[in-house]
Amino acid sequence: MEKEMVIVLDFGGQYNQLIARRVRECSVYCEVHPYNISLEKIRQIQPKGIIFTGGPNSVYGEGAAVCGKEIFDMGIPILGICYGSQLMAHLLGGKVTTAPVSEYGRTEVDIHTGAAIFQGVSEKTVCWMSHTDYIEKAPEGFQVTAHTSVCPVAGMECPEKSLYAVQFHPEVMHTAEGMTMLRNFVMNICGCSGDWKMDSFVETTIQAVREKVGAGKVLCALSGGVDSSVAAVLLAKAVGKQLTCVFVDHGLLRKNEGDEVESVFGPEGPYDLNFIRVNAQERFYSKLAGITEPEQKRKLIGEEFIRVFEEEAQKIGAVDFLVQGTIYPDVIESGLGKSATIKSHHNVGGLPDCVDFKEIIEPLRMLFKDEVRKAGLELGVPENLVLRQPFPGPGLGVRIIGEVTEEKVHIVQDADYIYREEIAKAGIDKGLGQYFAALTNMRSVGVMGDERTYDYAVALRAVCTSDFMTADCAEIPWDVLSRTANRIVNEVKGVNRVLYDCTSKPPGTIEFE
Ligand code: XMP
Repeated sequence: MEKEMVIVLDFGGQYNQLIARRVRECSVYCEVHPYNISLEKIRQIQPKGIIFTGGPNSVYGEGAAVCGKEIFDMGIPILGICYGSQLMAHLLGGKVTTAPVSEYGRTEVDIHTGAAIFQGVSEKTVCWMSHTDYIEKAPEGFQVTAHTSVCPVAGMECPEKSLYAVQFHPEVMHTAEGMTMLRNFVMNICGCSGDWKMDSFVETTIQAVREKVGAGKVLCALSGGVDSSVAAVLLAKAVGKQLTCVFVDHGLLRKNEGDEVESVFGPEGPYDLNFIRVNAQERFYSKLAGITEPEQKRKLIGEEFIRVFEEEAQKIGAVDFLVQGTIYPDVIESGLGKSATIKSHHNVGGLPDCVDFKEIIEPLRMLFKDEVRKAGLELGVPENLVLRQPFPGPGLGVRIIGEVTEEKVHIVQDADYIYREEIAKAGIDKGLGQYFAALTNMRSVGVMGDERTYDYAVALRAVCTSDFMTADCAEIPWDVLSRTANRIVNEVKGVNRVLYDCTSKPPGTIEFE
C-alpha cells in the first residue's frame, strides 16, 4: 500500500524524533533515517519531503556529518533545520561562519512575510535557537526569509528547487508558531494530504512483526504498565498464541497491582493470551539488600528481570524473540548516539549484555507516550489501562531512596495508595501527567501522642507533562495535599512527615532515582 511519507535525516541533533512526531501530528507518516542514507534508498522510499535535523557539529568541523549535494537535485522538497540549514547553505555555495554571538533559547525572529514556510506566521515571532555557527550569506538563488538581531539568515528559501531552511527549531514547543511552519512545509510545500492515522501505525507494525517473527515463539515482558500492555496486545494481535506474556511480580509494584494485572491479562481477562505470573518478590529483595546507588539498583532490577524471563523462556522452550514496551523517551534518556545518558532506563541501558534470545522486539520504540496511548486505544485496550499514569519498570525500587527493604516497600505502597485515592476523590487525576509518593531516606524527630518518634519522611510528587521529556511541577490544591499528608502520617506506620516536591524537569527528573 502506498502511503505519503516524509523522512527526517538524522544529523545527530537532540530533537530528531520530535520532528518526526510533529510531522505525524500533521497526519503524515514520518520515519527517521541516518544522514548518509543512499540516494537509491531515498528513491525507493519515495518521500514527499525530507527534513534535515540539527546536529552538534560545525559544517567545517572534523568528522562533521555531511551528505552528498546530489540530494538537492532529486526534486524532493527539503527543509533544513539548524545544522541542517547550515549544511544546505554550505553545500550550495553560501557562507557559514561562527556567529559573533551565539543564540540559545528564546529569540525574537523577524519574518519576511510572503515566504512559503511562514504563511500565517506573525511578522515577529518567538523561536527557540541553539547555535554557535550561522549562515552569513545565503547561496545564490536563495532569498532570505527571516533574520534576528544577530543572525542575518535565520531563514532562507529557493522555491524553484523546493529548498527551505530555518536556523531555529520549529519542532520544539517553545517556538510559538513552529507547528504552523512545519505544517506549511508538510502540507503546502510537500503537498501531503494528511491521511495517515495511528491505525496505520498499528496495521503496519502488526504486519512487520508478523514478517519478522514467522513461526517463532515470542515472549513478552509484561509489567501491566501502559507501554508493555499496549506492546502485549499489539503482539497478541500479530502472532496470537505464539506469544506468551510473562508478568514478573518483583515486589516493587504499587499496592494491589499484581492482582489487577492478572485480572486483565490472566485467564479471566478479555485477551486470549498465554499468561504466566511469576512471584519473585523474595528474589528481588535479597538481590537489592545493601544496595543504595541508583544506577546499580536499576541495573540489578533490569538484570534480574531478564534472568527470570530467561528461566521462563527455557520452560517454554526455543523462544526466539523478547518483546519490550520501550518508548522513545526511554531510548533517548538512556543515551542514544551523541545524546548524554541521564539514567539507564530499565528497558534499555539496564539490560545485561548476554541475553538468551535471538532478538528483542520493541514495537513502540519510536513513539512518545501520548502516541502509545493513541495506539492503545486503536488496538482496543481498555481506556482505564491506556490512560493510567506511567509506572517505571524498576517500580518502587526507584521511588525508595537508599536501600530497598520489604518494610520500606510497604510504607511507600500504602502512602502512594492514599495519595492516589485522594487525588481521584478530588477529581484532578486527569489533568496530571504523573503523581506518586516516594520514600526519602530521611528520618526526623516527631511527636505522636506523647511519644517521641524518629520516622521516615514521605515525598509527594505530581507533574504536568504530555511527552515526559520535560515536566512542570503540578499545583495540587492545598486541601488535597493536607488531607493526604494527614492520612499518611495517621495511617502509615513508620512515617511522621510528608513533603511536597516542587521541582520541574529539568533540572529534576520525574522519578527520584
Ligand atoms: P524520568 O524520571 O526519567 O522519567 O524523568 C520519565 C518517564 O519515564 C518513566 N521511567 C521509566 N520507565 N523504565 C521505564 O519503563 C525505567 O527505568 C524508567 N525510569 C523512569 C517515569 O516514570 C516517567 O514516566
